Amino acid sequence: MQGQSHHDLSRRDLLAAGAATLAGSSAGSPANAAPASPGAAPASEARNEPSSAPTPGPVRMPVHLTVNGTTRDLEVDTRTTLLDALREHLSLTGTKKGCDHGQCGACTVIVDGVRINSCLTLAVMHEGAEVTTIEGLGTPGHMHEMQAAFVKHDGYQCGYCTPGQICSAVAVLEEIKAGIPSHVTQDLVSAPPLSEDELRERMSGNICRCGAYSNIVAAITEVAGSPA
Ligand code: FES
Ligand code: FES
Repeated sequence: MQGQSHHDLSRRDLLAAGAATLAGSSAGSPANAAPASPGAAPASEARNEPSSAPTPGPVRMPVHLTVNGTTRDLEVDTRTTLLDALREHLSLTGTKKGCDHGQCGACTVIVDGVRINSCLTLAVMHEGAEVTTIEGLGTPGHMHEMQAAFVKHDGYQCGYCTPGQICSAVAVLEEIKAGIPSHVTQDLVSAPPLSEDELRERMSGNICRCGAYSNIVAAITEVAGSPA
């Protein structure tokens, strides 16, 4: 029993000591306490109190683009993506926002001949660039051959990924013509006939949630001049 009593006392002592420590730290709270050392930050800074310095607002900048052959002069918040500049500032809503994180390819456009994810780049980074969107490739009355092939081969279902797929496909065929190797599997050969494996790999950044891949491959293969 003596051991039990000693144990209880120890616990009470411990709790009392803890309470005293808490009370002491409260009474000597950071607001009242002197800095621990001459170089220490004042207590108000340590608590991250709001500074009286004005918060800088958004910065706007002019940017000049040639979009689908037309010069467009914009002034945008420097944080505006190229995708938002096209959709929100120029009302070119053919280019779609899917993931907004560079993972689906729905936002693919062609900038100075190269396909890019427009959600991953800022508009102001493309001063003077030539941008081609799905609207610039063709119209319902005068479709680009890739658009016509997608229609012919049913290369879409809901159509949400289709503008990005078509822009990407057009650029892929140009990359192959120029002898630009695939980014991922550089050993794939670009010599005709275009292999389905190579085509699927080159188009792998464009996701189709409807799974229309076989028909997309058939459409691109036809335009590439190989048997579907
Ligand atoms: S919206 Fe740009 S990659 Fe998905
Ligand atoms: S057609 Fe629906 S996501 Fe591709």
